[in-house]
Amino acid sequence: MASFLHTTTRPWAEVEQMLASGDVRGKLAKDDLPTPALCVDLDALTANIGKMANYAQRNGRALRPHGKSHKCSEIARLTLAAGAAGACSAKLGEAEAFAAAGIESVLVTTPMVGRHRVERAVRLAGRMADLILVVDHAENADDLNAAAAAAGVQLTVALDLNVTNRTGVAPGPDAVALAEHITRLPHLKLKGIQAYAGHASHVIGFAERTASSQAAMAPAIATRRALEAKGIPCPWLSGASTGTYNIDGEMDGVTELQPGSYLFMDLDYAGIGSPNGERFDDFAHSLTVLSTVYSMPGREQAILDAGLKSFATDTPFAPQVRGIDGCRYTFAGDEHARLDVRQASSPVQLGDRLELVIPHCDPTVNLYDRIFATRGEQVEAVWRIDARGMSA
Ligand SMILES: Cc1ncc(COP(=O)(O)O)c(C=O)c1O
Repeated sequence: MASFLHTTTRPWAEVEQMLASGDVRGKLAKDDLPTPALCVDLDALTANIGKMANYAQRNGRALRPHGKSHKCSEIARLTLAAGAAGACSAKLGEAEAFAAAGIESVLVTTPMVGRHRVERAVRLAGRMADLILVVDHAENADDLNAAAAAAGVQLTVALDLNVTNRTGVAPGPDAVALAEHITRLPHLKLKGIQAYAGHASHVIGFAERTASSQAAMAPAIATRRALEAKGIPCPWLSGASTGTYNIDGEMDGVTELQPGSYLFMDLDYAGIGSPNGERFDDFAHSLTVLSTVYSMPGREQAILDAGLKSFATDTPFAPQVRGIDGCRYTFAGDEHARLDVRQASSPVQLGDRLELVIPHCDPTVNLYDRIFATRGEQVEAVWRIDARGMSA
């Protein structure tokens, strides 16, 4: 008689029906899920959301978690329920997906250059209570203003300041000149400044990271002051990442924090250090990929069904098996991984389902259509990653 090797308790047809209807709470177990499956642990996610929300509130900062990490309106809604001012999106497509899900306030953190982007942005502004766009060139401000005039809408914009050698106008006189230009455009309203010091986010060591972020953010704060000295109101300065939330969040002049990865945490962030030591454990690893051992070529190796197509591979870190020490993961192709189990702290067998902590969360999420929200061994919800792939 077939043993079905460690797997599920119920027939696939029932699971399929539950997944199609979304009616899973109290019925579906993690053991029932088809693998590889992207899972988020609800207790850990909720704790991460609460911790960052409390930090922001205690320090008198607004919080606008970055949706590029989760790409999932359900998760954005959880952060809003915990007091977030709104969401960020990296791209217009993500903002469009969030708007379709009823999210009212989105900051798009990259510039809207080119005719079609401008037209889409203006159309979105007509559908959304609070869309904030960033601008780093006068010509682009002119384009946005003209399109907004033609559509009869007002656009809220912020200066994108270049504090990380990426997009953005240079802090100081160039930024002030751009702000002055924007104030002369009747269909644009200047909200303030975005200054995201991305290069500081993963600097290892809290003291080193603090120095890096302070050096990057000082010109942004000085620019805010320079605008105010010229009579240009600048009540808003948004920045910070998971690595710098408690650095930028202590700076006089930063009004809003926009971290994203803290919701999930990944192995890349785990090693950046904190004021308490080498580990950065302010937030818990909530995101895992559930995978099945589907071949055992010998006692020393297990082959998993989660390979290159299941994880972003841009970091030097390999996925880590949760709950069993001493397993070494290596990619073994698009669909496969090889687990060296010689030193495994407990036996690994054919059919076992293993959970793997993720090297880099944002691009991994973008590989999946849905995320299973779990509590213990139960699946409580299936969330669509509705902004998945929306990179245009
Ligand atoms: C503009 C901007 N803000 C905030 C973030 C959030 O950073 P993290 O996910 O490291 O918290 C990012 C991430 O790349 C970003 O590009």
